Amino acid sequence: MGVAGYAHFLALAERAQWDEEDVDLREDARRWRAPVTGGGLAPGERERLGTLVASFLLAETAVAAELDPIIALAPPQAQACFAAQQRDEERHARFFARYAAEVGTGEPDEEWRELFEERLPAAARSGSLREAVGLYHMVLEAVVLKRALHTLVAAGVAGAELVLRDERWHIGFGVRVLSDLGVPEREVLSALR
Ligand SMILES: [Fe+2]
Ligand SMILES: [Fe+2]
Repeated sequence: MGVAGYAHFLALAERAQWDEEDVDLREDARRWRAPVTGGGLAPGERERLGTLVASFLLAETAVAAELDPIIALAPPQAQACFAAQQRDEERHARFFARYAAEVGTGEPDEEWRELFEERLPAAARSGSLREAVGLYHMVLEAVVLKRALHTLVAAGVAGAELVLRDERWHIGFGVRVLSDLGVPEREVLSALR
């Protein structure tokens, strides 16, 4: 399997653009507020989703900001993709802020706080693009965020599918960056299984 080129990712990013203001949150807000007997969320479910919403707001805010030091390390041919990715991450942060304000939220997960507010800034500022992308794209996006987005999609959270679509190209792009750095593709892909 060949690794797709940067132009391919830019084209994907362009086609996938969406506006966080266009996502209809009325049904989510209704379910959040309605009693269980009226089709509302069960109390445990509301708490679980609230934690995820708060955690995503924290995570997307962090990943948007931490691309700056990573972009400074990136080769010229990857710069436009990183810029397109940053535009996506800023939109994701705005989307979850809107979701928290209009639907509901909770307290962020402490493990996520450590991952995104401590480990990510340390890797992004390590001076090693391989280390930064290894944590950012291959662990945080390809494992942590992807898994949690599947949970949001399964719970019927509006907009989650759009965020997941963006994250898919970010992950593919990360694989490409690591492959250009000489990390064997087999090694990268097996880490994702
Ligand atoms: Fe994101
Ligand atoms: Fe992302």
